[in-house]
Amino acid sequence: MTDLPPQVLVLFGATGDLAKRKLFPGLFWLWRHDLLPEVRIIGSGRHEPEQELRDLVRQDAEGWDEFAERISFVASSADDGADLARAVSAAERELGEDARRLVYLSVPPSAAIGMVRMLEREGLNERAHLVLEKPFGTDLASAKELDEALLDVFAPDQLFRIDHFLGKEAVQNILVLRFANGLFEPVWNAAHVAYVQIDVPEEIGIEGRAAFMESTGTFRDMISTHLFQLLGFVALEPPTVIDERGLHEEKAKVFRALRPLDPGRVVFGQYEGYRDEEGVADDSDVETFVALEAQVDNWRWQGVPFFLRTGKALAQTRRTITIGFREPPLGVFGRTADGEPNELVLELTDDAEIYVDLRAKRPGPELEIAHARLTLDFDRAFPDAEPVEAYERLLLDAIKGDHTLFTSTEEVERLWEVCEPVLASPPPVRPYPQGSWGPAEDLPGPRGWRLG
Ligand code: BG6
Repeated sequence: MTDLPPQVLVLFGATGDLAKRKLFPGLFWLWRHDLLPEVRIIGSGRHEPEQELRDLVRQDAEGWDEFAERISFVASSADDGADLARAVSAAERELGEDARRLVYLSVPPSAAIGMVRMLEREGLNERAHLVLEKPFGTDLASAKELDEALLDVFAPDQLFRIDHFLGKEAVQNILVLRFANGLFEPVWNAAHVAYVQIDVPEEIGIEGRAAFMESTGTFRDMISTHLFQLLGFVALEPPTVIDERGLHEEKAKVFRALRPLDPGRVVFGQYEGYRDEEGVADDSDVETFVALEAQVDNWRWQGVPFFLRTGKALAQTRRTITIGFREPPLGVFGRTADGEPNELVLELTDDAEIYVDLRAKRPGPELEIAHARLTLDFDRAFPDAEPVEAYERLLLDAIKGDHTLFTSTEEVERLWEVCEPVLASPPPVRPYPQGSWGPAEDLPGPRGWRLG
């Protein structure tokens, strides 16, 4: 058992997709691994679910019934949080006076401020950590408005802006690879790196999330958040210490150096059939695909293009970061410039892998140069280790009060600034067939995308 104080967890959006797929399974996993303190989980939302919440989010695993005794549901809204406040007080009385609160707010940007005001009215902001799901506003002005409302009610250290990509094991591995080894950092700059690609294609469509997609779109859902955060980890300078302050400072510096996007280097796509999805407007121009080129105007990265690409209903699901290296200065073997330079590839999917594609001598009597791969397979390297899923990790960090893997206001606001030119004049939306690679090739890079 952990020595963390007991917690009352309030989950808004408790009957939604995120709660069902990630939050409840994540909390259950933490509980089964003795990582959670004693908890009461109060799910909330505007309407009482038709089924008991604990049945709705049921997991088929040993221990579930015992864990589920801790789950209840209380309806609440921006106008009325009285029942919820009573339920939180009752749960706290049960848990004892050192009980803490964690409030998880996963609501659309338009609803966030109203909910924050309700928390204040009901005193639910006291002794609480507030975890906020993205998107944080829909542009710079609304993000600032949200920040003002938040800081009116909460102290900065009570706020946890979650970007779950930062909880992925493999993302932290970018830091370990770079800063715990002597091998990579000396070549991690424009003198040696020709391009960086961050590819997050997804096979899934919108999976019933029409209202969310129609109001958010892929640019706000994925680029201004997850993909830019990955770019931040790849591009940041070595912090003196990897802690909350060190990471936030260095990431904020990268984002300050990020050049505001050029809409001429951004491609938007929409999969064919999107407009026929239930809840989608017949003439919707919402993008389900984005490919773009970003530039980091600092000493280390000057002139190195960062290609970011993501979309729904594509041929494969991948989360891949590719660092492409420059060719050797002289072709001592004759013809080696075959258009396939060395690439360091980080696969961030659950089967994490890091590999380097390079050239080697094919065994045999001739000096024949061929392509080969050096691979770090995590399952084989650490057979006894159990990876922690992103939400599990971040929920635990929020309970502990560790902000290291959360995003800061400064980062969020700067990223909206960088996105502003595209929000103001978005490129036309190009149709693409489902199951394809989307219109990525409309944005020519030095070597196309790492696909297939
Ligand atoms: C979410 C987005 O934040 O991340 C989804 O809203 C996306 O649109 C998802 O599918 C991808 O997350 P993961 O953990 O599956 O890589």
